[in-house]
Amino acid sequence: MTGPERFITLEGGEGTGKSTLIAGLQRVLSERGAEIVVTREPGGTVLAEAVRALALNPPDDESWSPLAHALLMNTAREDHLKNLIRPALARGAWVICDRFADSTRAYQSIDGVALEQLLAIEAIVVGETRPDLTLILDAAPDALAERRRQRNVSDVFEQKDLSFHEQVRVAFLDIADNEPDRCVVLDALQSPEDVLNAALSAIDQHLVAA
Ligand code: TYD
Repeated sequence: MTGPERFITLEGGEGTGKSTLIAGLQRVLSERGAEIVVTREPGGTVLAEAVRALALNPPDDESWSPLAHALLMNTAREDHLKNLIRPALARGAWVICDRFADSTRAYQSIDGVALEQLLAIEAIVVGETRPDLTLILDAAPDALAERRRQRNVSDVFEQKDLSFHEQVRVAFLDIADNEPDRCVVLDALQSPEDVLNAALSAIDQHLVAA
């Protein structure tokens, strides 16, 4: 398992099973012998986790403007890239990141920040460290809600309405349409094992065979 490309990001709406897939990828790819660094955004470093707390849980019922929120995501990302992602890639590790710049494009554009502005900030912060492969976990939000109800999972998914989840889905599918060489869309309603196998096939095709 060699080759220069090894920065993988996972994207998708809430409840699509990113954490389960990441655990599976970590297990299988580690068995192949590579160093696998699993991380998340916003977060991943001490400072970026502090920014995460500030961004996702602002004090005293205060709320960030959409642009301030986008800047906070990028502030966390700058530290994450500098202190964790780039050093890991430089020593030959594979980095698997739970959410990355596509989440900013999706969520913050839905919040009302112009996509051109988001892309301009992304270009400054991410620079050349673009993901080599982005796995997008996709499912119809109503099917996900039903699945979660059956499993008695009650969480943040249910606090937002279905139209919001639908907007998130469309935003990620748009990104995949625009960058088909980088993005692979996976059916999140498959069994966890099938999602993992589909992800491994995408990795083998995009990265190992590249
Ligand atoms: P998290 O609990 O990690 O959600 P999930 O399990 O769905 O990944 O919370 C991250 C939240 O932050 C999620 O709602 C998406 C949002 N987010 C943004 O709005 N912009 C971003 O750039 C990132 C990375 C996340």
